[in-house]
Amino acid sequence: MGKDFTFTIGIVVVSDKGSRGEREDKSGPTIEKALNPIGGTVKKYDIVPDEKEAITSVIKEMADKLHIDLILTSGGTGFSHRDNTPEATLEVINKFVPGIPEAMRAESLKITPKAMLSRAVAGIRKSSLIINLPGSPKAVKESLDVLIPVLEHGIEILRGDASDCARH
Ligand code: MTE
Repeated sequence: MGKDFTFTIGIVVVSDKGSRGEREDKSGPTIEKALNPIGGTVKKYDIVPDEKEAITSVIKEMADKLHIDLILTSGGTGFSHRDNTPEATLEVINKFVPGIPEAMRAESLKITPKAMLSRAVAGIRKSSLIINLPGSPKAVKESLDVLIPVLEHGIEILRGDASDCARH
């Protein structure tokens, strides 16, 4: 990671219980702890219920009004009837980024077969990269470990700062 590289982060914790204050969120702090050392600053952090509309509206605010570089959702990617995060994300992205969830699942499968139960997606809205993470802090950390090595280059290309991949 380059020393001067900095980026903004939006965290969307998707949890019915969390949004009602019935469960302490540990995934948001896990994200912050993992990304702070590589230049990430949390600009907005929200806990929303597993409702499509609540998820799309906070992602849109983070991308369109706050111009956040990296928007990470946590939770709601599984099989429960209330799990709507991938569907909400697909509604707001302009471009798909299939390689990121593919890589996260592939690496996570080496740790647990349950990794295949995450339906996480990723994509781009304007200049924001949006990535779904599973809900547990353990899964969040494991998924971020896969993402971190490519984050700087991905964000630089999205900003228009780096176009020549051959340099790297
Ligand atoms: N990925 C990693 N790396 N580690 C994990 O422990 N848990 C899985 C999966 N992905 C897991 C993981 C489990 S148990 C589920 S049910 C799905 O993510 C969906 O989680 P979510 O509904 O909290 O989004």
